[in-house]
Amino acid sequence: MKKIVFTVAVVAVALAIGKVAQQNQVQAQQSNTAGGLFPNDFGPASIDVSSYPKQYQETYKVFLEKCSVCHTIARPINSQFLEMSEAEQAQMKKTQPELFKDPKILQIDPHIWSRYVHRMMDKPGCPVGKDGKRIWQFLVYDSIARKTGKNFAAWEKTREKLVKDFKVQHPARYKELFDEGQ
Ligand code: HEC
Repeated sequence: MKKIVFTVAVVAVALAIGKVAQQNQVQAQQSNTAGGLFPNDFGPASIDVSSYPKQYQETYKVFLEKCSVCHTIARPINSQFLEMSEAEQAQMKKTQPELFKDPKILQIDPHIWSRYVHRMMDKPGCPVGKDGKRIWQFLVYDSIARKTGKNFAAWEKTREKLVKDFKVQHPARYKELFDEGQ
């Protein structure tokens, strides 16, 4: 009998610990800063999509809902990521070489959004699921529309300020994100 009582007690304690761990995880996700802070987090939390094709205006709503579960939606909105194929990059290097001068302003890669959407989808509790593909397509379209061409100057100004302020306010994190291995 004593042994049974003891076993029940051990199981109860184990369950309680499990519950607390689960709650902590949920709290970490709800704190809106999952994975630590990024300069992105302090920028605008919406995009003016009124001039975007209808399909992207629709996906924008899904993006707002699903990509804001663990961190602020400002994190993807103000990200330096720009996805462009090798051929598009070769073309851009001729027409707009300034896009390539600082990876803190624009990090250009043929698969960067695809890689990061998958990375987010692999995280526990991620609600993206079957919407991953259209959110990825939206992000590719949006970053080209909003961060290149005649909009590059405005993007550069916004992003430069975010990075500069972040360096002053969160120096250790800045170093971790941008200075490692340099
Ligand atoms: C389940 C939680 C979760 C969801 C949902 C989520 N993210 Fe994240 N995100 C994180 C964590 C944690 C980090 C911290 C860095 C890392 O682990 O990559 C992060 C970081 C990021 C970064 C910064 C990456 C960098 O290194 O500069 C971007 C951009 C991003 N997320 C975009 C998205 C997009 C787009 C979506 C929706 C498709 C999304 N996130 C949904 C958890 C999540």
